[in-house]
Amino acid sequence: KAEGDPLITEIQDWNRYLGDGVQANPYGTPSPFESHVVRRDVEWLTASTESSVSFTPLHELDGIITPNGLCFERHHGGIAEINPADHRLMINGLVDTPLVFTMEDLKRFPRENRVYFLECAANSGMEWRGAQLNGCQYTHGMVHCVVYTGVPLKYLLEEAGVKTNAKWVMPEGADASAMTRSIPLEKALDDCLVAFKMNGEALRPEQGYPLRLVVPGWEGNMWIKWLRRLEVGDQPWQQREETAKYTDLLTSGKARRFTWVMDVKSVVTNPSPQAPVTHGKGPLVISGVAWSGNGKITRVDVTTDGGRNWKTARIDGPSLPKAMHRFYLDIDWDGSDLLIQSRAMDEDGFFQPTKDELRIARGENSIYHNNGIQTWHVKTDGTVENVEVA
Ligand code: MTE
Ligand code: CO
Repeated sequence: KAEGDPLITEIQDWNRYLGDGVQANPYGTPSPFESHVVRRDVEWLTASTESSVSFTPLHELDGIITPNGLCFERHHGGIAEINPADHRLMINGLVDTPLVFTMEDLKRFPRENRVYFLECAANSGMEWRGAQLNGCQYTHGMVHCVVYTGVPLKYLLEEAGVKTNAKWVMPEGADASAMTRSIPLEKALDDCLVAFKMNGEALRPEQGYPLRLVVPGWEGNMWIKWLRRLEVGDQPWQQREETAKYTDLLTSGKARRFTWVMDVKSVVTNPSPQAPVTHGKGPLVISGVAWSGNGKITRVDVTTDGGRNWKTARIDGPSLPKAMHRFYLDIDWDGSDLLIQSRAMDEDGFFQPTKDELRIARGENSIYHNNGIQTWHVKTDGTVENVEVA
């Protein structure tokens, strides 16, 4: 087959001449041929870029770790630029000794490394009433998964001495939005981290440099970036982000509140609208990601006929609690129309619902916590569209 292919028979420039030496690019950037692999936003979604969101290009990634430069960003008051030497973390409220830590102080506590996904509660929110955005980057790209290095929050609270009547902790951001949320003390003492590294290097400014709270499995809004204060109290503070926002208005007129856990969810990333099938029929790798705020993913099923028949996909790579899982289904495509869906199950036995099941349970007013099953229509020419099946 390779006969006559000049890429085989002729010597190419990159084979003939020396390349750049070391230090040509002291930090390092991806190949110029990957320049299309970037975060993207949807301009009409928000009024300004300071209070907006950019999405992870899930269809270009593989494995379970999101590269730092591609982690979606969600800010309510722009990116704070903080010199770590000027950063302080204060603990006050119902504690024996109010404390202020410098970054240097924090780095003298025992630290841990853990892999977690972070998903914004608004991820897939635009899809509540029907298929809307053409690409998993936009429908599902408000999620990332990195390895965090940080100090268990428990150690810092123990250092301050939590009073016996304490029940809640309120983290506060140092950015212009001064983001605040109420977190139950049990969660704070369980698995929360005060993190300063992601994927081995310092947090990116977009992700809260120099310090952010990690709240494993819970909605992204609680993972306060540019973390400057932790107040300990005996009741929730009823902040804007837990009353006017991040609540789910039901058809009854009542709203669900404090819906912290991000439920079991998955999406096929390839093929998808931004990643059509370009090679025609024959072997086709169907791939995607799954995650659950309850723990590990135990199974992912994939259908290619809109839910009539399901096959169990192959989960490959590390399977860690509250982290992204990668799955594959390797098929032989006959070139006909496909309706591809994935449905994940977690270790607590929860299955992803269909979008119709979700609407029956929660009505159509919701934005947040849409973990419904996504459908991609793969057409005979390999192009892919976001659709819903009844
Ligand atoms: N923390 C502060 N201080 N300011 C913010 O605007 N946005 C929150 C949360 N923490 C926010 C914040 C929201 S809604 C989400 S989804 C996550 O940060 C997004 O984290 P990321 O930008 O690292 O993806
Ligand atoms: Co969010």
